[in-house]
Amino acid sequence: MTLKALLAATALSTALGFSASAAELTVGFSQIGSESGWRAAETVVSKAEAKKRNINFKIADAQQKQENQIKAIRSFIAQGVDAIFLAPVVSTGWDSVLKEAKEAQIPVVLLDRDIDPSGKELYLTAVTSDSVHEGAVAGEWLAKTVGTKPCNVVELQGTVGASVAANRKKGFDTAIASHSNIKVVRSQTGDFTRAKGKEVMESFIKAEGGGKNICAVYAHNDDMMVGAIQAMKEAGLKPGKEVLTVSIDAVPDIFKAMAAGEANATVELTPNMAGPAFDAIVAFKTKGTVPPKWIQTESKLYTAADDPQKIYNSKKDLGY
Ligand code: AHR
Repeated sequence: MTLKALLAATALSTALGFSASAAELTVGFSQIGSESGWRAAETVVSKAEAKKRNINFKIADAQQKQENQIKAIRSFIAQGVDAIFLAPVVSTGWDSVLKEAKEAQIPVVLLDRDIDPSGKELYLTAVTSDSVHEGAVAGEWLAKTVGTKPCNVVELQGTVGASVAANRKKGFDTAIASHSNIKVVRSQTGDFTRAKGKEVMESFIKAEGGGKNICAVYAHNDDMMVGAIQAMKEAGLKPGKEVLTVSIDAVPDIFKAMAAGEANATVELTPNMAGPAFDAIVAFKTKGTVPPKWIQTESKLYTAADDPQKIYNSKKDLGY
């Protein structure tokens, strides 16, 4: 056998052996819900990544409620799944149920959000971005864009108690701390939804002289920003021109707004958290490879200079 043929045969048998093992795996995913476009994209991508690897994948939609997530995890344990993926809606209150998973020897992988550090021993790995860094990227973009001009910022926070909401706030606050011209004058949760983002932005506009005192909006996700843009337009303001916008996720609709000149910047959060998580679980289950405690995904800044229409089209083509 030639070396080329040998390599091809080895690759084939590895591929066959790998997919055969992966095909036997059942993974349960306790998903938060469908509060945002990003969340819906994550669900779509997770299913596709499971299919690629021939994994039997069960998703439980918690409709934003931690108690539903706890019930789903208990049900996955009772079904004897091989692994559990968890996108924790809030960061606390997981100890008991994760101890139950550990006792049942079912590895847990956190997707896109963290739990409190006290729970570190209770999961195998976490596939997340650095959400403090995301907030910092947003803050640095704003600081660079406004320069020395005075700038009053209103902030739409994510779900109260979610790790990403606390971290995105912290990163942004730290990035603007040395810029005394930039001040966060109002900050409230919009629960990561478009409707709440709009509602809270309407109240900010009222409280800030019809919006004339607002120089920029920072939203912890794009959906809240899309809602805020709507509120600004209805109030006669020009988002993206008179009022700067910076948010997080990089979902198609924010690129649509950018292409229309109504949004300025977004920090990308990949919806593909499940791909690296499946790879980690397959390697763990088939070869005993222990993954790093944190599998970090990238955070890239996009602005109106990045051909938003083209990005919108390409994301739409991917089914987001
Ligand atoms: O945990 C990730 C966040 O959850 C996304 O940024 C937001 O859109 C989603 O709801």
